[in-house]
Amino acid sequence: MPKPLMCPPEVLSQDLHGRRAIVTGANSGIGFVTAKQLAKQGASVTLACRKEAEGRARADEIRAEVPSADLEIRKLDLGDLSSVRAFADGYLADHDSLHLLINNAGVMNTPEGKTTDGFETQIGVNHLGHFLLTELLLDTLEKSAPARVVVVSSCYHDKAMGREGVIDLDDLHFEHRKYEGWASYAQSKLANVLHAKQLAKRLEGTGVTAVSVHPGWVRTELMRHTMPAWMQSVTRPFMAMMGMVEPWEGTQTTLYAALAPDVEAHPGAYYSQTGTYRDKSKNAGGWPLESPSPHAHDDAMAQRLYEHSRQLVGLESA
Ligand SMILES: NC(=O)c1ccc[n+]([C@@H]2O[C@H](COP(=O)([O-])OP(=O)(O)OC[C@H]3O[C@@H](n4cnc5c(N)ncnc54)[C@H](OP(=O)(O)O)[C@@H]3O)[C@@H](O)[C@H]2O)c1
Repeated sequence: MPKPLMCPPEVLSQDLHGRRAIVTGANSGIGFVTAKQLAKQGASVTLACRKEAEGRARADEIRAEVPSADLEIRKLDLGDLSSVRAFADGYLADHDSLHLLINNAGVMNTPEGKTTDGFETQIGVNHLGHFLLTELLLDTLEKSAPARVVVVSSCYHDKAMGREGVIDLDDLHFEHRKYEGWASYAQSKLANVLHAKQLAKRLEGTGVTAVSVHPGWVRTELMRHTMPAWMQSVTRPFMAMMGMVEPWEGTQTTLYAALAPDVEAHPGAYYSQTGTYRDKSKNAGGWPLESPSPHAHDDAMAQRLYEHSRQLVGLESA
């Protein structure tokens, strides 16, 4: 397996005092380590968590390690648009700047289900919730420029367990085709890539840079719908041999996308840790990497998805 890509020390020692960041899904996995590292470098970090109590406990863990950490915990359920609106209203009532929006939270291979607003769970949580969140915070990001939006996608936007990532705008919610957890995950992660791409185009000249990320195959809670916890712990050494990395390695690509100066030269790009792609020559990853999926380069679909997403989340059509 290729070695994981790691941030150069100057990226991880950048002084972030005076910078504000929001990390979604900060109570677990990659989001937790991202929030901790940003706080360590001096950023004021909002941990956006579905479970507030868990968020508070994780914030205490960060404070134990980084006593100077400037943290706040806010409730955010991406599967409920009223929660997304309440989160944005609350944040904007208390803060007038935002420099880093890390759209990290996600679910994978869930059983068939719907969000509060009737969206299929994975497209609802992974894409539509983050889409609305980004739209509601966009003015503040622009006012705070230079700023970044990092959308955490996956190499599975290319192909997830044999299911090619494609966006079906006529049946985004699997109402007219048989539901498949992996096909739905792949669709939602392709939506993440196209969201960042389209956002970058709209934000041209504003000083706000949007990119998407594959964090690697990372030991987190993400496999909870795929494999019971006991089986994950039994197979852990084998999975590590197969290329699964620890959360610190799995946070490097997000941190690079959020902090490295050269990212500004690649708006809309896709940054990949080591991964599993149909084109194996891409498996070493790249910062940035040209996605091997032809669908990730479909500008017309990116525009259509943007318009469709605006309608679905109740914003006026562009
Ligand atoms: N781990 C990997 O190998 C891997 C590979 C490729 C891409 N990714 C991507 O990396 C991102 C982070 O995942 P992870 O690996 O760190 O997994 P994780 O440990 O399961 O963390 C996922 C986070 O998302 C949150 N979340 C789930 N549903 C939510 C909702 N409705 N509203 C708000 N937050 C919600 C979870 O909160 P709760 O604790 O409340 O559920 C948790 O904090 C995801 O976007 C995932 O697709 C991960």
